[in-house]
Amino acid sequence: MNSSENVSVYDQLGGIEWFSQLCDGFYSRVANDEVLRPLYPEDLQPSSHWLALFLAQYWGGPGDYSSQRGHPRLRMRHMHFRLGSEERNRWYEHMAASLVSMEIEPALEQQMLDYFSMAASHLVNTPD
Ligand code: HEM
Repeated sequence: MNSSENVSVYDQLGGIEWFSQLCDGFYSRVANDEVLRPLYPEDLQPSSHWLALFLAQYWGGPGDYSSQRGHPRLRMRHMHFRLGSEERNRWYEHMAASLVSMEIEPALEQQMLDYFSMAASHLVNTPD
């Protein structure tokens, strides 16, 4: 997962501040999305916080998400939302737009886009 030896993606990108900025950019797009916005609670800040901790942990940062939230079990945590291909595509597009706006190294950007695409597809739970 590392593009330089012994340095996590988390550290390469700049730690939790970087992931918080990525997630704030994502949620500022969700805030204006008429399909996704109703799925989330009124205050998007906690959702952004948990997503940042989860992604930081996934990309080699500290295990704060799991120590505070337990095992991620993301499919289970998304089961009570109706996630079809439209929700999946909108989620991915907002995350991709936020990521691209942060202008990281192209190879790492592609690796993260591939991960987000795969992870979002994995959470689809409702056929079209
Ligand atoms: C497929 C489209 C997706 C939709 C529509 C979606 C929607 C949601 C919603 C509505 C919540 C609840 C927010 C809250 O109550 O605060 C949530 C939580 C969360 N989502 Fe997603 N999600 C999607 C994909 C993903 C993906 C791909 C990831 C990870 C790469 C992810 C990670 C999380 C995390 C970490 C949480 C917080 C779980 C917790 O409460 O600890 N989601 N998502």
